[in-house]
Amino acid sequence: MPTPHNSAPQDAFAKTVLLPGDPLRAKFIADNFLSDVKQVNDVRNMLAYTGYYQGKKVSVMGSGMGIPSIAIYCTELYQHYGVENIIRIGSCGAYQKHLKLYDVILAQGACTDSNFAHQFLPNGGTYSALADFSLLKAAYDYALKQKIKVQVGNILSSDIFYNANPSAWKQWQALGVLAVEMEAYALFSTAAKYQKKALAILTVSDSLVSKEETTAIERERNFKQMVEIALNIA
Ligand code: HPA
Repeated sequence: MPTPHNSAPQDAFAKTVLLPGDPLRAKFIADNFLSDVKQVNDVRNMLAYTGYYQGKKVSVMGSGMGIPSIAIYCTELYQHYGVENIIRIGSCGAYQKHLKLYDVILAQGACTDSNFAHQFLPNGGTYSALADFSLLKAAYDYALKQKIKVQVGNILSSDIFYNANPSAWKQWQALGVLAVEMEAYALFSTAAKYQKKALAILTVSDSLVSKEETTAIERERNFKQMVEIALNIA
């Protein structure tokens, strides 16, 4: 049975799904890294594919941008499609001076300025959204083995890209938060809700500190490192 946002049959997804923000990235991964690929969703052009990587069945799907969008897709994947592991691969803006463009970050945890997890806490409280340790360790070990430099730490999943207060990010910088993106908190807390596993692998695409930005071509090259880590731990 399909869901309101996904026309795939119930057995269409592998146990592990890679989730880039951009559905065309999902297509790129399917076209360039997977064999025996089937497209399983095209509702709203949120393309999803299932294929094989080194004999392992893997799926890849776009998440869209922001907490509401990723929350819809990861909830349906966990709850309806029996998916066990979701690995977000995305870009982020650096909050710390030592982070350079293209550095790879493994998000150990995610802070947020969103109320998303309040739905799980009717009695109040603040949920600390963490990556699954087994996925985090596997990604870290693989990166170490392949000599891919990675940084492990806390990130911010923000609801706001264009903030009316241009220095609002500095409060997160002061707490040692490495970088900002817009999805991981929803993924990690939804994984917790359904007792499933999640990880986010991010590449620095811009720096709030140095104001540097990457080009689209360079982003694509670096994107492959994250895909390689994600596919090898899938
Ligand atoms: N803000 C939010 N999300 C992002 C950014 C940013 O600066 N860069 C990449 N994803």
